[in-house]
Amino acid sequence: MIKVAVCGALGKMGKEVVNTILENPDTELAAKIDIIPAEDVFTSIDEALKKCKFDVVIDFTQPASIFENAKYCLNNGIKIIIGTTGLSEQQINELENLSKTNNTGCFIAPNFSTGAVLMMKCAELCAKYFDNAEIIELHHNQKKDAPSGTAIKTALMMSKANENFSTGNCAETETIKGSRGGNAYSNIHIHSVRIPGFMASQEVIFGSMGQTLTIRHDSTDRKCYMPGIILALKHVLEYNDFIYGLDKIL
Ligand SMILES: NC(=O)c1ccc[n+]([C@@H]2O[C@H](COP(=O)([O-])OP(=O)(O)OC[C@H]3O[C@@H](n4cnc5c(N)ncnc54)[C@H](O)[C@@H]3O)[C@@H](O)[C@H]2O)c1
Repeated sequence: MIKVAVCGALGKMGKEVVNTILENPDTELAAKIDIIPAEDVFTSIDEALKKCKFDVVIDFTQPASIFENAKYCLNNGIKIIIGTTGLSEQQINELENLSKTNNTGCFIAPNFSTGAVLMMKCAELCAKYFDNAEIIELHHNQKKDAPSGTAIKTALMMSKANENFSTGNCAETETIKGSRGGNAYSNIHIHSVRIPGFMASQEVIFGSMGQTLTIRHDSTDRKCYMPGIILALKHVLEYNDFIYGLDKIL
């Protein structure tokens, strides 16, 4: 039986994860953790650890908290699965070092849905054949970080397959700052839409002379993330390695 503590247990994702852990015959819910005070809920990982034992923490909190939560777990030999987005590249590298130094499993996935992972894989494949591509990610308006972790990971994967996008574009002027979106990886522009009605969607648009190719994924229910989280749980129990991306174990 895998003993699991869910951090961010009262949030949208946390609630879904708690139900999944309770329903799964191989997992046991050891602790619920959230900064919102509530009955049966610990207010920090530290507090939970003093009262109960668990093999792994699953964290779906917020960008401002995740780095400290992850460092605390890895420094105390507790495996962690990170669904929370908003970690910087430098923070991810630091967590990789901590995971290796402490020989403690750390699994980061900006997106736990298999459909989104396939969308990213398809984008990586297409990146070899197109020199122009942009990403549009669309989320509900309560999402705190932009661009999404999925968009960043997709751009990273595409930039490894092709180092120079947007070739042939003319010199551009932004009359309104930000119109062309963010551009951190190989000239792949990322545009973030935040409006009610969406949960999590992403389009990757490729273009070349006379043609466009659009790959799109939509998450319509948070249940889509649960099988990926169970896969990650099984992986961290068996291995003490550092993983960034569900694609690494599919
Ligand atoms: N990896 C994925 O597949 C995936 C999917 C959906 C959402 N997300 C990410 O998961 C995160 C949570 O999303 P959400 O929609 O559930 O948000 P949410 O705001 O509904 O829930 C976050 C919860 O975390 C709690 N919290 C904040 N700081 C905390 C801390 N230090 N310790 C304990 N609890 C804390 C909040 O009180 C809240 O209950 C976001 O970063 C989001 O982008 C990832």
